Amino acid sequence: MSSEASGGYRVKLDEDDYIEYLESRIRLLEMEREKLRNQVNYFKHQIEKLLSLPLIEAVVLDVLPDGRVVVKSSTGPSLIVYVANGVNPSDLRPGTRVALTQRGSAIVEVLPSRENIYVRSMEVIERPNVSFSDIGGLRRQIQELREVVELPLKHPELFEEIGIEPPKGVLLYGPPGCGKTLLAKAVARESGATFISIVGSELVQKFIGEGARIVRELFEMARRKAPSIIFIDEIDAIAAKRIDVGTSGEREVQRTLMQLLAEMDGFRPLDKVKVIAATNRIEILDPAILRPGRFDRLIEIPLPDLEARVEIFRVHTRRMKIDKDVDLFELARRTEGASGAEIKAICTEAGYSAIRAGRRRVTMEDFLYAIDKVMSKKRIRRVGHSVSGGEKRGRYSDIFYQ
Ligand SMILES: Nc1ncnc2c1ncn2[C@@H]1O[C@H](COP(=O)(O)OP(=O)(O)O)[C@@H](O)[C@H]1O
Ligand SMILES: [Mg+2]
Repeated sequence: MSSEASGGYRVKLDEDDYIEYLESRIRLLEMEREKLRNQVNYFKHQIEKLLSLPLIEAVVLDVLPDGRVVVKSSTGPSLIVYVANGVNPSDLRPGTRVALTQRGSAIVEVLPSRENIYVRSMEVIERPNVSFSDIGGLRRQIQELREVVELPLKHPELFEEIGIEPPKGVLLYGPPGCGKTLLAKAVARESGATFISIVGSELVQKFIGEGARIVRELFEMARRKAPSIIFIDEIDAIAAKRIDVGTSGEREVQRTLMQLLAEMDGFRPLDKVKVIAATNRIEILDPAILRPGRFDRLIEIPLPDLEARVEIFRVHTRRMKIDKDVDLFELARRTEGASGAEIKAICTEAGYSAIRAGRRRVTMEDFLYAIDKVMSKKRIRRVGHSVSGGEKRGRYSDIFYQ
């Protein structure tokens, strides 16, 4: 009897266990089903995307009184189309880039304007405010740049008469902050040329996918505004040698470079457009850009020597109220290895020191303090660099690259 009872108890226990087991199975299977449902949704979504028809790019020509819009589609014909819900009709003006449905029946999206991308990507200065007198040192470089850029722009007939071709492109190279940009601006001003500049690294990082088109527009703009000087800063960002062109980002950079080379090959040496490029890292450049007819004139812009540093101090203290006892030669002597940009920073820092002390003039002491401050920052950066510096550097291996 008691065994029967205990047997019944055991059966009951098994049943409970079994139910519990089944319930946990149900929960597991429900979870499994939920997971599969998500996967199905995901794939459905993917299939939809893959099956959906591509949109057509078009440019608005006119907005009709009844709300329909005349567009010129990139596939050719001009179309009269409706505007889909969700597109704000007031965004549509002649020239606006839009997307049409595949069958071209309606505008479904307003695209970002290309003109904006160009405007944001390049700086156009009709007359730069830097002249040669604002540059300390670099006399030989100024002379050379005037010969290869200013002279052919101003007097192409001299070259035609003698029968030589000036270089189309000039490459300025050397450590940062030593006057490459300054020099390019000054020669543009002196030549009466429009200064149009872009930065290589921005083409690669900010205007992804637009690099080649921007380069094309750059040269078009230069021809429109000729005489002009195109300045490409940090050209190494688009013209570095690379072993393999693997990622799509690299291919995009490659396309940008190809466009640049094609544009350079496409104009003649005596056309009123000159290209000046600048780099801190000449050793990584693709030799293709240095071939004849491209950037075939190299001008080194080195760190300023003693004499040049005196001149740079003179340039940057010209408009400062400085004490009679300030000895620019002594300042130059104490700033060996400093770039022009650092000398400028020292002058600014010295000015601050005087203001803090409530003085109306900047003293030698202010300058010495400023040198200490700026040069010690530089030393810290150098130490930091040499610690992490397993990388191969070129010929300026002792200089920190920003
Ligand atoms: N040789 C120089 N003479 C006068 N100022 C200089 C000189 N080199 C650099 N500077 C100062 O440093 C700033 C940065 O110089 P920049 O021409 O942009 O250097 P880089 O293009 O070589 O990196 C300039 O705006 C200028 O104030
Ligand atoms: Mg610069």
